[in-house]
Amino acid sequence: MNDDRDAFGHALYDHLQGTGKGKWGIVIERDDGLVDVDDAHNYFTEYADWPAHQQGAMALVQGRVLDIGCGAGRHSLYLQSKGLDVLGVDESPLAIETCKQRGLRRTQVMSITQLSATLGTFDTILMLGNNFGLFAKPARARWLLRRFAAMTSPGARIVAETLDPYQTGDPLHLAYHQRNRRHGRWPGQVRIRVRYRDCGTPWFDYLFVSRDELLQLVEHTGWAVDRFVDSEGPCYVALLAKVDR
Ligand SMILES: C[S@@+](CC[C@H](N)C(=O)[O-])C[C@H]1O[C@@H](n2cnc3c(N)ncnc32)[C@H](O)[C@@H]1O
Repeated sequence: MNDDRDAFGHALYDHLQGTGKGKWGIVIERDDGLVDVDDAHNYFTEYADWPAHQQGAMALVQGRVLDIGCGAGRHSLYLQSKGLDVLGVDESPLAIETCKQRGLRRTQVMSITQLSATLGTFDTILMLGNNFGLFAKPARARWLLRRFAAMTSPGARIVAETLDPYQTGDPLHLAYHQRNRRHGRWPGQVRIRVRYRDCGTPWFDYLFVSRDELLQLVEHTGWAVDRFVDSEGPCYVALLAKVDR
């Protein structure tokens, strides 16, 4: 990834260096013009600060772990401190540099679409911080889920967080769902880019799904929904279990 495209990574790295703290937000822009502002601090929080559904997700993790889109490594570092063997991957070079400087022992700069069995076999795949969204679109989700089945042990699990896009009354979101439907896209398939200072990612798709959509999506992929861990808001964690063959 070109350095000026690594907007998220710059925000994390500046926060780690203490230069960005509280000064510059991470701007998330949707293709209808809606903007939201995030704070890099959120990606450095400790277990005690996490919402209950993310804490609950940690109890579902077992064995050798692949943390996809690990960011500044908050979940990977927690699991590593508990003695688990964790590989953190992220397409952002500066996110991975941040993880390394924070003490994460096993890291790799890699996009979710580049993951393969050459990395070894995993018992848990972790996609927290709404990283189910990295599946981007339903067809890619099914393709990647099948690929993950080939990279994991029997009895493996995927612990993934997403947000139910329908738990909103915001007219801008409701209009966006309608626009997506008109274009044959799933309502929660958002097209966004991330800006930070003078850096910006290209536009990319990010997928939010309801529990029913998620159940539909995983059919015939080698995975089945074992359970959901709910939060008080629209976010939830899905535990997917590998189907015995
Ligand atoms: C919302 S952050 C979540 C970070 C971390 N999981 C957490 O909860 O603190 C999303 C992360 O995914 C990474 N990412 C975005 N697109 C990716 C892709 N295609 N493959 C791998 N990582 C990606 C970003 O660089 C970022 O670090």
